[in-house]
Amino acid sequence: MRGFYGGGATDPNKSVVGRRGFRRELSREAALTSMNRFMDQREQLLKLNQIGIALSNERNLGALLDLILHEARNFTRAEAGTLFTRHGEHLKFEVAHNDVLSEKLGRGNTARHIRDTLIPITKQSLAGYTAATGEVLNIPDAYAIPAESEYRFNDEYDRRNGFRTQSLLVVPMKSVQDEVIGVLQLLNARDEGGKIVPFDRRFEMLVLSLASQAAVAYRNACLTQEIKQAYLDTILRLSIAAEYRDTDTAVHIRRMSLYSAAIAEAMPLPADEVEQILFASPMHDIGKIGVSDRILQKPGKLTEEEFAEMKKHTTIGAAILDGAEAPVLKLSCEIALAHHEKWDGSGYPAGVKGADIPLPGRIVAVADVFDALASARCYKPAMPFEKAVAIVEEGAGKHFDPDCVAAFRRALPKIRQIYDEYRDEAAGMLKLSAAAPFPAR
Ligand code: C2E
Ligand code: SIN
Ligand code: SIN
Ligand code: FE
Repeated sequence: MRGFYGGGATDPNKSVVGRRGFRRELSREAALTSMNRFMDQREQLLKLNQIGIALSNERNLGALLDLILHEARNFTRAEAGTLFTRHGEHLKFEVAHNDVLSEKLGRGNTARHIRDTLIPITKQSLAGYTAATGEVLNIPDAYAIPAESEYRFNDEYDRRNGFRTQSLLVVPMKSVQDEVIGVLQLLNARDEGGKIVPFDRRFEMLVLSLASQAAVAYRNACLTQEIKQAYLDTILRLSIAAEYRDTDTAVHIRRMSLYSAAIAEAMPLPADEVEQILFASPMHDIGKIGVSDRILQKPGKLTEEEFAEMKKHTTIGAAILDGAEAPVLKLSCEIALAHHEKWDGSGYPAGVKGADIPLPGRIVAVADVFDALASARCYKPAMPFEKAVAIVEEGAGKHFDPDCVAAFRRALPKIRQIYDEYRDEAAGMLKLSAAAPFPAR
């Protein structure tokens, strides 16, 4: 992507579109100087095109919404902005940026108090008006809206934050079918000298065009998210069927998968591999479908014979998943086969040793045992968090890859958080059905 920007490499004021790891907390200075002159039409088209490409490449929903708002503000040199998505007859606050308040409140504080707020779509509010009519509102002074207008400016945000909204540009995000699927609200355009001015009329069409590209990207990201959610739901249900034949314990599987991802992240592995592990690990015990209830749900200790039967869940799982095309299933297969191998070669089914055990298998082994220790099973009670941690640490270099145990240790704050969050089975199940397919970045 980088070469596409022409001057991007030498001009620090160019937009951050396409840069990986982009975050909203740009300094105010950078935001103000990011368009130190009006672009000519050719430049604008080029820029729009670049933004379109960047948007279509971002499949993470949260990051995408952030990027859309950032780019719209950048285009118009707006000091602040809010992005709403439409949910039936309501608008939902998704992202709010405010350069002035982020200086005052510190990084990341600007949006917290309004996030997840739903407002009904009525023509009385500015965003509601745009959502209802599909019209752009370009308002030079929020406090000088003529009394006869259908819409009014709600000064609650200003009052609460000691902010002064002046100029406003409210633009619908329209889908290809011309439905309004979101609203961009930009606040306080600035001129070259940093003075607050009305939004230039030329911005209306540009932002409208940007917003429609954003709408397409948003739809696609939603679809991606839905597919991931469907995938996760499916494997959870399959794993429940295979292993527990009981929905209550689905929480264990979810937790194990979150632990695995936390360890992978702390290794550190790249974000896409972490996500693959998150998605592949829930199926590690799918082979328990081939183990009889009598053994699986035996309240006491297994006999040697029963344990020999139980060990087959690794090879049965691998056989079920073998030959699948999808990379995530190939990874599941590898994990199913390797998650009971041990670093010192004393594990099963093959007795492989050290780095010959695939890394995802070594990571999941730590997560699996930790969760087994810290949870109640039909054959044993739960042990306290700290004791389970101590047993995992003792296993470094024997049962476990020492690097994975070190990553586990680094990930402990997150592991503790997952442990606490999914502790209560009932609450955990509610979380499961509402859960986004991946933890927040
Ligand atoms: P699981 O319950 O999910 O346990 C996964 C792994 O966690 C175990 O693999 C073992 O390495 C570790 N683990 C579990 N509990 C303890 C513990 O109290 N102390 C220590 N040091 N490690 C523990 P393993 O042993 O290969 O067992 C695989 C599966 O076999 C277990 O999965 C469980 O489903 C079953 N299983 C193992 N032992 C028994 C048992 O005594 N009774 C019954 N009913 N099932 C058992
Ligand atoms: C669980 O942690 O109980 C779910 C998967 C597993 O058996 O480890
Ligand atoms: C449970 O499995 O819900 C009990 C152990 C724990 O707190 O994780
Ligand atoms: Fe297992």
